[in-house]
Amino acid sequence: MKLLVVGAGVMGHGIAEVAALAGIDVVMVDVSDEFLAKGLERIRWSLDRFVEKKKISREEADRAFSRIATTTKLEEAAASADFAIEAVPEDIELKRKIFQTLSRYCRPGVILATNTSTLPITEIAEATDRPDKVVGMHFFNPPPLMPLVEVVLGEKTSPDTVNATVELGRRMGKHVIICRKDVPGFIVNRILAPLLNEACWMVQRGEATVMEIDSAVKYRAGLPMGVFELADYSGIDVFYMAFNSIKSREPSRIELCPIFKEYFEKGMYGQKSGRGFYVYGGGKYERPEIPRDAGSSIDLVRLFAPSINSAAWLIRNGVSTVDDVETGVKLGLGYPKGILEMADEWGLDRVVEALENLKARYGEAYTPDPLLVEMVSKGRTGRKAGEGFHSYRQDTATYSEILVEREPPLLWITLNRPQRLNALSPKLIGELRDALRRLEKDDEVRVVVIRGAGGRAFSAGADITSFTEAATPLGAYKLLTEFQELTNQIESLSKPVIAAIDGYALGGGCELALACDLRIVSERSELGQPEINLGIIPGAGGTQRLTHIVGLGRAMELVMLGERIDAEQALKIGLANRVYPVEGFYDRVREIALKLAEKPPIALMAAKRALHASRYAPAGLGLDMEKSLFSLLISTEDFAEGVSAFMSRRKPSFKGR
Ligand code: CAA
Repeated sequence: MKLLVVGAGVMGHGIAEVAALAGIDVVMVDVSDEFLAKGLERIRWSLDRFVEKKKISREEADRAFSRIATTTKLEEAAASADFAIEAVPEDIELKRKIFQTLSRYCRPGVILATNTSTLPITEIAEATDRPDKVVGMHFFNPPPLMPLVEVVLGEKTSPDTVNATVELGRRMGKHVIICRKDVPGFIVNRILAPLLNEACWMVQRGEATVMEIDSAVKYRAGLPMGVFELADYSGIDVFYMAFNSIKSREPSRIELCPIFKEYFEKGMYGQKSGRGFYVYGGGKYERPEIPRDAGSSIDLVRLFAPSINSAAWLIRNGVSTVDDVETGVKLGLGYPKGILEMADEWGLDRVVEALENLKARYGEAYTPDPLLVEMVSKGRTGRKAGEGFHSYRQDTATYSEILVEREPPLLWITLNRPQRLNALSPKLIGELRDALRRLEKDDEVRVVVIRGAGGRAFSAGADITSFTEAATPLGAYKLLTEFQELTNQIESLSKPVIAAIDGYALGGGCELALACDLRIVSERSELGQPEINLGIIPGAGGTQRLTHIVGLGRAMELVMLGERIDAEQALKIGLANRVYPVEGFYDRVREIALKLAEKPPIALMAAKRALHASRYAPAGLGLDMEKSLFSLLISTEDFAEGVSAFMSRRKPSFKGR
């Protein structure tokens, strides 16, 4: 497959790099050799960073780099391309001109994607001979680090084009969401814009200060940055132009707060011009200091209501699904949870009420979306009602921070907070405990595998923010009690549990793995107990189980130095049971899990019990326990089957009876 990337600028070079890293041959085109050289230089720099951070090897970086060819001859490059992605500046005439050329020189059937974030796909498609093959492919900046791509349909984009584009996005290692209609802002920016705008209006109307809102957004809602901090970081000019582009296509929807225009006209673009909502010193970017407790008076429901309204609009109009909205904000904006999940938690009745109040004071733009109104009238008001955008009914067990996949005789549990390296939040711990409790009754499942989502971490530990939020000894004590109970639950589960570690297993993440019966580790993984570097110690059994597994000397070293060790060292000291290459890692895990699933379940349960008891039972008692369990096993049908199979030299089939 040969991918044509048009434009070697901020987005173009990043897209080329991502594709090359995924093993795709790329031709990057720009108008001058100078732009191309600059693009290549940035790719080199970025690849070097990945090598430095040990994300890839030097050879992988070199191989990726060698997959990227460059040229200034668009026509020639187009003729040999199998797929084209355009990433030139956001100028509709320029884009249309390029698509005309692509349409003339690319073979018929070749898909032409545009990486616009603000322009209509349909208008770009009209410049070509193949509007059914034109599609939006919106990468987030910077493409090598941001895990999300929005695939956007123009009016005539065909289902085959969408499928092929989604597949390419996934092949490039991205999570793909689909924006089914060519609406301004697509999914993610259509949700972000009203939040930013509303925050501005609150300042403009004297309801709150920049600092109060940012503090509330960051420390109470848990977003990675304050909204004003984000506007400054990305550039107020960028937002102003994007807003205007949305507004020019949909005049009635957004009442743009005048602050944006004022700052734009004064050249106060944010961090890059030294002044925006905050003031910046020269040189290196420093994040503004936002006091932790400044935002206590902000009504989060009122602040987020317009944004939630916009998300509801997207769903009602069939532009997006609930899942894609949630994935979009989590992976595109770093939200700790989905925006609809936040709405469900607050209560949709409160969201509608906030919108009604705003409408009464400031006008029609705040009219609650009919979907929200309908949900409230039907009593689907969110978590408290058991049903909102998500279902919270006990029997359906929908989790938001773990994924449970039943594949009898195996059950895969994926820690699913990839944007936080699967840090263990209280919610995640609660969900995991609930899933394990249900599992106990599921006789078809014989082995459980726990792994991490996102390809970077099993888990980077307890979610540090939950400790800063519960910054009292009592708060921490309660959190750790839950966590320790989870580890005890894993240990006493009647089925074997495997920790499949690909990436970081640190702090609480390592402790979770220590409670599992086997730790299978990929070559690129790093394990450790770094808590000491934060001024704390392991709190979920790290000082106890670790000592038992690797010995007091090694445990002292790991806990007191707080250094990370690689897979090979982990294997050497017995922390890892097996180490496998990254490629095909989960296939190897599956093989071992399936092997375990063939063993007699009751005997496995007894083995777990007796082995774990060695940590706390006095030697005599442990031996007694072993003897008693052994004697009980003699009475199982599985034992009879085991012996009979042995005698007749066949493979046993254990039923767990
Ligand atoms: N809690 C909350 N968020 C975490 C986290 C954690 N334990 N670990 C990583 N993250 C977040 C980061 O804040 C970052 O979020 P933003 O993108 O919003 O900034 C995101 O995950 C990605 O992480 P990095 O940018 O730091 O990624 P990196 O590749 O530069 O570094 C890392 C990776 C070395 C694992 C680094 O993230 C790290 O050191 N994490 C903390 C590890 C740690 O100290 N764990 C112990 C926690 S305390 C504990 O577990 C107590 C206990 O025993 C129960």
